[in-house]
Amino acid sequence: MNNALVGVMGGSGLYEMEALEDVQEWQVETPFGPPSDAIMTGRVDGVAVAFLARHGRGHRLIPSEIPYRANVFALKTLGVRYLISLSAVGSLRQDLRPLDMVLPDQFIDLTRRRESTFFGTDAVAHVSMAQPVCAQLADVLARAVVVAGLPQEQRLHRGGTYVCIEGPQFSTMAESHWYRSMGASVIGMTNMPEAKLAREAQMAYASLAMVTDYDCWNPREPHVTSDFAIANLMKNAGHAQHIARAAVLLLGAERPASDAHAALATALVSRREHLQ
Ligand code: ADE
Repeated sequence: MNNALVGVMGGSGLYEMEALEDVQEWQVETPFGPPSDAIMTGRVDGVAVAFLARHGRGHRLIPSEIPYRANVFALKTLGVRYLISLSAVGSLRQDLRPLDMVLPDQFIDLTRRRESTFFGTDAVAHVSMAQPVCAQLADVLARAVVVAGLPQEQRLHRGGTYVCIEGPQFSTMAESHWYRSMGASVIGMTNMPEAKLAREAQMAYASLAMVTDYDCWNPREPHVTSDFAIANLMKNAGHAQHIARAAVLLLGAERPASDAHAALATALVSRREHLQ
């Protein structure tokens, strides 16, 4: 299979895509080793989709162990043009409440031990990350949230900065305040270098971030624990499934053009031999 239009990267608690039909499982080999798990391909309302559980099914991988390059490479091999990332985040702003959803439009990468580029061996390229999220894909996700419907007390927030930490530990209080002072809106452990690699692979990328907690900066709220975050995430798992399905339907019908699809055309690229 090499014609999956849409890729869905499921985060914690999202290990399958319920709407997927005619499911086939692929053990994809890549130059960067195997992806986090077998990739499930199939159709969602007639649109070809590839689903990958970022942490592996059953949550086997901590964020630092996720083979980000293999994951993006494998999805690219299967044809993916639009990559929807689903993940849990902590909130760094009072108005982003647990169970709300955020469509970040910026990232701050504070990861420390992850391979974060496809380039450097055979080719040199510097892609622009000024706008790391595909605005058209984020727009589709926003409309998909409306189609799928959220409970009245839950909100969708367009835009915001996602700070990505190495983990697996949550932040210290000093760090949490520091991220807020940087202007970050939400905090997570997995969207980087995923977004960078998707850009290098010329895939449109957008992240639907589901708020589970207030990290540890907010004196009126409990400090995040894993159990607390997972409990809140599970409350949103059904909504995430419906939103992903609605987004796939919109993408199949509209196939929006994305700047990401031409990222390398505007990157500085040179073959090694030209440098010698
Ligand atoms: N994922 C969910 N909540 C988080 C938090 N507070 N920090 C980092 N990653 C998270």
